[in-house]
Amino acid sequence: MKVMAIIPAAGMGERMGGDLPKQFVLLKDRPVLSHTLSAFQTCPDVEGVVVVVPEGYENFCAREVVEPYGLSKVREIVPGGRRRQDSVYEGLKLTEGADIVVVHDGVRPLVRPELISETVEICRKHGAVLAAVPVKDTVKLVEGEVVRKTLPRDLLWAAQTPQTFLRKVLWEAFERAFEEGLCATDEASLVEMMGYEVRVVRGDYGNIKITTQEDLRLAELLMEGRCSG
Ligand code: C5P
Repeated sequence: MKVMAIIPAAGMGERMGGDLPKQFVLLKDRPVLSHTLSAFQTCPDVEGVVVVVPEGYENFCAREVVEPYGLSKVREIVPGGRRRQDSVYEGLKLTEGADIVVVHDGVRPLVRPELISETVEICRKHGAVLAAVPVKDTVKLVEGEVVRKTLPRDLLWAAQTPQTFLRKVLWEAFERAFEEGLCATDEASLVEMMGYEVRVVRGDYGNIKITTQEDLRLAELLMEGRCSG
């Protein structure tokens, strides 16, 4: 089965501050996105990669992120859309011929190639899977400044990426979402909404999403830990 990856990296990252979107900021002397793409370069299950960037950053991404690091699996670099969902859809259109698609945030540079492979393996059997970790904190449903409910922690998992699907399942979920005006912050939600069973594979607490300056420092420390460990 042919496997392709879509890497949405078209956010403008306002929470990070600075001029450069967070996916292009340097982490250990390399753009965050180049670390992410290296994991896919290393993963033997992935054949090709489509990268989705903010409009106008296509050449910058080729020159600063892809070419210097030998990321030969990158097939296309295309502009994204207003919402993450729109960006992933732009990438999905360019994966024709793939049987399985792996969607992974450009700003999760610590993903292990083995975790990508695990999702592909489960997807072959079950059609839809996401990486997630059990929640450690007790989670409250809050409205305004008032707690409405305490959710049962033993049932709660925090969704990460990679999220991996049979391409035809994800395609149908997107078509349905656009028809019905549905919007979601991850792809698994769209697949769930059409009544398809989505599996979970245990991700890594270290597979963080870089959103703030603090996350960038944490990612640096986690990388140092890996190199020495
Ligand atoms: O928005 P969030 O921080 O959850 O972003 C997760 C990933 O989705 C990031 O890699 C970001 O660049 C990407 N994204 C995108 N298009 C958007 C918004 C976010 O590709 N319009």
